[in-house]
Amino acid sequence: MAIRKLRYIGDEVLDKPCKPVKKMTPSLKVLIDDMFETMYDANGVGLAAPQVGILRRICVIDVMDDDPFVLINPEVIESSGEQTADEGCLSVPGKCASVTRPYYVKVRSLDRDMNPVIIEGEGLRARCILHEMDHLDGILYGKRANEPYRDVEQEEDQEEWEE
Ligand code: NI
Repeated sequence: MAIRKLRYIGDEVLDKPCKPVKKMTPSLKVLIDDMFETMYDANGVGLAAPQVGILRRICVIDVMDDDPFVLINPEVIESSGEQTADEGCLSVPGKCASVTRPYYVKVRSLDRDMNPVIIEGEGLRARCILHEMDHLDGILYGKRANEPYRDVEQEEDQEEWEE
């Protein structure tokens, strides 16, 4: 496993839609492992493939609920409710902004062996799933935010999370 180089806002790879994964390959499995390692190294709770420069519909998520998972070609099949909270992104360092998203989401996806799975989440888990899935369509959270990006304040650091 290896830590991959993160891409930052302004890098055009973050603005492009990703292609679906048609077939699992050894190099995509390495990519998934590397994405987890890169996310943990950066203290993130989620990471999407374009954030390491790969335009594939893959993201990894670990919101510290003892259920880390990968999403491959995910599709939202149900969502409900609403939540508003600050988000951050490993590709937009030092910034945050308030974003309103559904409170609950149900997603159809593939796991790392390309088996179909249904993943559900509420609260932070739902927010993270939707944030990462936006990356697969070339959308940074600033586009969905209720306000411009603002600097993360030092005292907020403990509550801050990034994907
Ligand atoms: Ni992000």
